[in-house]
Amino acid sequence: MILPDVRAAAERIRGHVLRTPVYEVAPGLFFKLEQLQHSGSFKVRGAFNRILSAGKLPEAGVIAASGGNHGLAVAYAARSLGVRAEIFVPTVTSPVKVAGLRALGAHITQTGSIYSEAAEAAAKRAAETGALEVHAYDQPEVVAGQGTVGLEIMEQTGGVDTILVAVGGGGLIAGITLGSGALRVEGVQEAGTATGQPGIVSATATEGGTVSDAGNARGAVGEARGEAGNVRGAGGEARGEAGNVRGAGGNARGAVGEARGEAGKARGEAGEARGEAGNAHGVAGSARGSAGEIGREGGSRVLRGEGGPRVVAVEPELTHAMHSALEAGRPVPVKVSGVGADALGATKVGVLAYDIVSRAGVESVLVSDEAIIEARRTLWEEHRLAVEHAGATAYAALLAGAYVPELGERVAVLVCGSNTDPATLVQRQG
Ligand SMILES: Cc1ncc(COP(=O)(O)O)c(C=O)c1O
Repeated sequence: MILPDVRAAAERIRGHVLRTPVYEVAPGLFFKLEQLQHSGSFKVRGAFNRILSAGKLPEAGVIAASGGNHGLAVAYAARSLGVRAEIFVPTVTSPVKVAGLRALGAHITQTGSIYSEAAEAAAKRAAETGALEVHAYDQPEVVAGQGTVGLEIMEQTGGVDTILVAVGGGGLIAGITLGSGALRVEGVQEAGTATGQPGIVSATATEGGTVSDAGNARGAVGEARGEAGNVRGAGGEARGEAGNVRGAGGNARGAVGEARGEAGKARGEAGEARGEAGNAHGVAGSARGSAGEIGREGGSRVLRGEGGPRVVAVEPELTHAMHSALEAGRPVPVKVSGVGADALGATKVGVLAYDIVSRAGVESVLVSDEAIIEARRTLWEEHRLAVEHAGATAYAALLAGAYVPELGERVAVLVCGSNTDPATLVQRQG
C-alpha cells in the first residue's frame, strides 16, 4: 500500500464523509476533531472506502465485527448507501454504541466478551451468507480510508512534525502513516537490492550533511548506518560519529522491541546532544522530513517520507497490541482490558498495519487508564469536547508526558471518537 491508495480513497469517499475541522488549541498544537465525523468516529472513512470499492454488493449486504465504532460506521455507511448491515459486537461494547447501532437499523448480534470473539462469529456468519466483510482494521481499503485523516491533517495544519494517534488494531495509524507521508514506497528499480532484509539500512544524508534521516536507523534489526552516524539498532548499540543523538532518538523511536524503553532514554540523550550537534532539534525537523532510504523491497525503495511527520502510536497500558507487536517483531496476541478496551481492544494488530507501522519507524508509547480518564475530563472541561476514552487516548500521551515534544515542535493530536454517554462527563453536584 502506498500514498496514492490513500489519495484514491479520498476521492472515492468525498461527499460521503466530513472533512472535520482542525483546531489550533495553542501555538503549534492542533486537535483534529474527528469525533465530529459521521457516526462519531473516523471509522466511516474506511467503511465507505471498502464498500464503495467493492462494486456490486451481495444481496446479504455487508457484515462487520466491531467493538462498537466500526460497527456504527459500517451501519451508517450501509444505511446511506441503501445496503443491509449485520454487525457483531462483544458484550464489552457500551450500551451507547449498541443503542446507536439499533438506531441506524443494523441487525445486531452481541456475542463474545471481547472483539476477537465477535470477529470469529462474524466471519462464520459471512461464510454462510456471502455478505461483504468490512474488517475493522486489516483490509487495504479500510487502511486507505482511515489514511485520509492523515492527508487532511497535513493539508489543514500546513504540516506538522508529529501526529499522535490512538491504536487498536492499527488500521488508523497505518493509514495515517501513509496519508501523512511518513512512509513512502517508491517503485524504483535498482540493481543489488540485497538490502531487502529489514534492518540493514543505509542512510541518505540530508541536505547540508546534517542529521541523516532518523528513519534510516528505524533499524528494525541490528545494523543501521547513516552517514551522520546516528545509529540505534534493535541491538541497542548507539553510535554517533557526528554526535547527532537526535537522530538516535528518532531511531529508537521507530525501533522495534526494547526500543520503546530506549526511546525515552534516547530522547533524554537527544536533549544533551541537541545543543552540541547543532543539527539537533531545529534540524531534526528537516532530518525527519528528508527522504532517507530505510530499506528495499523487491525493486522498490522504502523511504521515510519527504516532508512527512513522525507518527506516534498511543495505547493504553492495559491494551497494547501494537506495542507488543513492535517488541516481538510481529503481531502477537495480547490481553485487553481497561477503559479503552471497547474501542482499542484488538487482541492482535493487523498484518497490514504492522507492516506499515514497523517500516515507518513509528514510536510507541503507553498511557495509564488514569491518564486517559484525565485527558477525557480535560478535553471536556477545558475545550468542551465530548469524547470517549479512546478519543482522549492520544491526548493523554501529551498530558501525562508519555510523549514530550521538543521546543517549537508542531504536534497534531487526533481526537478520534465521541460515542460516549455525555452524562458521564459532567461532575454531578450535590
Ligand atoms: C475512537 C477510536 N479510536 C481509535 C481506534 C483505533 O483504530 P484502529 O483499530 O484502526 O487502530 C478505534 C477503533 O475502533 C476507535 O474506535
